Amino acid sequence: MAFELPKLDYEYDAFGNYISARIMELHYTKHHQTYVDKLNAAVDSAPALQGLSLEELVAGLDKVPEHVRTAVRNMGGGHYNHTLFWQCLHPSSTKSPSGELLEGLEAKYGSFQGFVDEFSTKATGVFGSGWVWLQPDLSIATTPNQDNPLMTGGEEPILGFDVWEHAYYLDYTYNRADYIKAWWEVVDWEKTTERYKVSGS
Ligand SMILES: [Fe+2]
Repeated sequence: MAFELPKLDYEYDAFGNYISARIMELHYTKHHQTYVDKLNAAVDSAPALQGLSLEELVAGLDKVPEHVRTAVRNMGGGHYNHTLFWQCLHPSSTKSPSGELLEGLEAKYGSFQGFVDEFSTKATGVFGSGWVWLQPDLSIATTPNQDNPLMTGGEEPILGFDVWEHAYYLDYTYNRADYIKAWWEVVDWEKTTERYKVSGS
């Protein structure tokens, strides 16, 4: 079955001035849709890949036929990463986690703010296009382009932050720092905590 855009749990204008409706719509209906369409085209041209899940594709790039490997990496990564990204946003964010995840972050980073500062520093430091991840062991990773931790043998991240310019340029032009500040206002900590619990860390 062909891959499809996931349904969003909120409207494009759900994030007020933090992320504009225009960016949400373009990001979802143009950028993410393009990753989905091009991933489907790549899988269509490689029968051995048909029936594999998105996670199996991006975690097993070495088994993907060479003629579509770059497409599966970029488009499969794009689809996986954005699917997680949409689930990391909530219109009425609690602004911080609670329970086990909060305790874990405080233990690792000294305080929740210590975690926010470290994650923000890594987000600022991504050169060009890429992503910042919170992993189940609560370490922070960055990847270039549409790569993600699954591609290097890692586990599924519990939080993913898109720092491509397409995610913020219309609202913030080149001021990635302002976009990073806004992101902390819209993170869905409840779903992130659920992913943390499911990961068993
Ligand atoms: Fe994006």
